[in-house]
Formats: sequence, C-alpha cells, structure tokens
Amino acid sequence: MRTVLVTGGAGFIGSAVIRQFLAETETMVVNVDKLTYAASLSSLPGAEGNPRYKLEQADICDATAMARLFGTYQPSAVMHLAAESHVDRSIDGPAQFIQTNVVGTFTLLQASLAYWKGLEDPYRGAFRFHHISTDEVFGTLGAQGFFTETSPYAPNSPYSASKAGSDHLVRAWHETYGLPVVLTNCSNNYGPYHFPEKLIPLVIIRSLAGETLPVYGKGDQIRDWLFVEDHARALRLVLEKGKNGQSYNIGGHNERTNLEVVETICDTLDRLAPAASGTHRDLITFVSDRPGHDKRYAIDASKIERELGWKPVETFESGLEKTIRWYLDNREWWQEILSRGYEAKRVGLGGAQGR
Ligand SMILES: NC(=O)c1ccc[n+]([C@@H]2O[C@H](COP(=O)([O-])OP(=O)(O)OC[C@H]3O[C@@H](n4cnc5c(N)ncnc54)[C@H](O)[C@@H]3O)[C@@H](O)[C@H]2O)c1
Repeated sequence: MRTVLVTGGAGFIGSAVIRQFLAETETMVVNVDKLTYAASLSSLPGAEGNPRYKLEQADICDATAMARLFGTYQPSAVMHLAAESHVDRSIDGPAQFIQTNVVGTFTLLQASLAYWKGLEDPYRGAFRFHHISTDEVFGTLGAQGFFTETSPYAPNSPYSASKAGSDHLVRAWHETYGLPVVLTNCSNNYGPYHFPEKLIPLVIIRSLAGETLPVYGKGDQIRDWLFVEDHARALRLVLEKGKNGQSYNIGGHNERTNLEVVETICDTLDRLAPAASGTHRDLITFVSDRPGHDKRYAIDASKIERELGWKPVETFESGLEKTIRWYLDNREWWQEILSRGYEAKRVGLGGAQGR
C-alpha cells in the first residue's frame, strides 16, 4: 500500500484531497497539520478510525519532527498544502506567512531530500514532492490575457510573495539536488468546508444572519473560480501523471467579478432561504478596498487539460449552488468555528504591519 504525506490536511483544500483519497483509493494518508486557527478536523468526517488515515499534529517548520515523520511512515510522496492562506491577514501580520510558507517549505524540502537520498530504486525514482501553490504568484492581469506556466512571477501581497518564494525553493531543490518535484498553481477555490473568513462562505453566513455584506472597492476585481473537489481531482492526477520538474496551472474558466459572485449568492439565497423582508442584495455594502488589490486573475489550464486529460466537472453555477446548499445543511460545521471565538472582523487595511 502506498503512503502519501499530506501537509495542511485539516484545511480547506487538504481535507478535500484526503476525503477523496480515503473514499476513492487504497492510499494510506498521513495528515501533517499544526492545527492552526484555519484547521478543522470535522472537515474529515469518518477519517479518524480509518486504518488508512493517521493524523500527526506537527509544525512543518520543526525539522526534527519532519525527519521523524519521514522515518516513521516512509512515504512515496508528499503533497504540501500547509500554509498561511489569507491575503488580508498577510497584510497585517506578514511574519507568520514568511515563517510557514517560506521557512516551513524549506524545512520540508530538506527533510524530503534527506529521506529521498536514502531511498533505493524503484522508490527513489517514483518519489514526488508536490507543491500546491496559487495563481497569485503571477500578480495581476489587465482586461485581456491568461496566466500560463511560463508567465513571469510578479507577486503583489505578502501572501503571494511568500508563495512565490516557496515555489522558487521547490524549483531550486529540483534543479540543484535532483529532488523529484511537481508544482501546481491554482485559481481561487470555493466549496464545502471553506473557512468562514473567505469571500464566498463569509457572504453566505452573513446573509443568513441578516448582516451587511462587505464588498471591497467597487467589487470589480475578477477572480477565476474553481470548485474545490475539481481542484483535489486535478492534484491527485498531477501527483500520479505529472512530469518530474514540471508545473501545471489549474483553473475552471469561471471569471466573475467579486460583485457578481456576491449578487449570485444573494439571488440563490433569495430562492433557497428567503429573508423575512426584502432581498439579500439589500445587505450589500461597499467598503474601502484592500491595499494592493490585484485586479484580475485568469488561468490558462490548457496544459493540464491537454497533457493529463483533466477537466473540471462543475460549472460556477452548479458548484455555487452545491456550496450554498452545503452551508445551509451543515450549519453545525461553521457554527462550531464561529463559536471558537473566530471573529469575522475586517483585517488587512495595513494598520499593523510587521508583526
Ligand atoms: N484557497 C484557495 O483558493 C487556494 C488557491 C490556490 C492555492 N492555494 C494553496 O493551497 C494550499 C491550501 O490552501 P487552503 O485554502 O486549504 O488553506 P487553509 O488555510 O484552509 O488550510 C491550511 C492548513 O495548513 C495548516 N498549517 C498552517 N501552518 C502550518 C504549519 N506551520 N505546519 C503545519 N500545518 C500548518 C493549517 O492548520 C490548515 O489546516 C495553500 O498552500 C494555498 O496557498 C489555495
């Protein structure tokens, strides 16, 4: 039985990957997660007790712990998703982003390299370090064009700069030391089990509470949305079939302005959970924009489509409807997170740099 070490498996995308591994494959999964504020073990229903699942609460910056995990589990691959992931938080407190995303990735690469060097073929040749990254490393697009795998890096936020840094480390460990790697850069994800601070769950949850729906600036920033289960399928495919040393862009061809996203959620909720009076659109409030807010992201996913045969299953409409229904049917999941003391207050206006 092969073993995959998944970092950040209690987060939004990592938990989707683990749910698929456990439901659809024979793979043994080791979930390496520090369990930060962003983690939720209830995103992995049925995992605990499954003989093919093991949770290891550990920090990827802890070199000793990482070496121990490689020694104990002898994985055939690493899928590295652990990260600080919220752009607004990175503006107020960049230090944690540099620590986890850059130093943590470096630490994990060193542990992987030491382990990989000790492997013998065929295990050595088959090993993969898969780094999961974002399209935000490419910066912002104008009205035209798409990010490809050869787009120049031009990150604009502390978050995207830290992810760009980690991408470069992964590339260098391949070029310099020969570590077998694959990289993926994906557009904005949405779907079930998404932490309530991110745009789509935030708008759903605040709408249900009858609270104002904050839209940054004019809401005209464009994002290319992908349903999280489609992303997880793409990641598993790249791990299986991606070429050593290559990177793949992943996106769903679903460009929407932020305001369109918010309005679509409002209209769907008017249908599925009507407000006592008025429409949910009445709650929309325009607030000051995020500093350095990228204007447009759009992915050219033709390489992964052509070379690996991946295509998303969900359209934005079908995926969003599923997501909204999930938040309506699984209130205990997000209410538990809210009850932990997570406070959905506005952050990221740049008032507290340097922490
Ligand atoms: N969410 C998106 O739209 C998106 C898009 C493209 C790429 N990505 C990338 O995908 C990955 C996963 O994103 P996500 O949205 O699931 O993030 P998330 O914030 O939901 O989850 C991150 C997980 O990593 C864990 N973690 C954080 N610091 C850690 C540390 N030092 N050691 C061990 N575990 C730690 C957290 O506890 C959490 O469970 C990230 O690398 C992110 O950059 C995300």
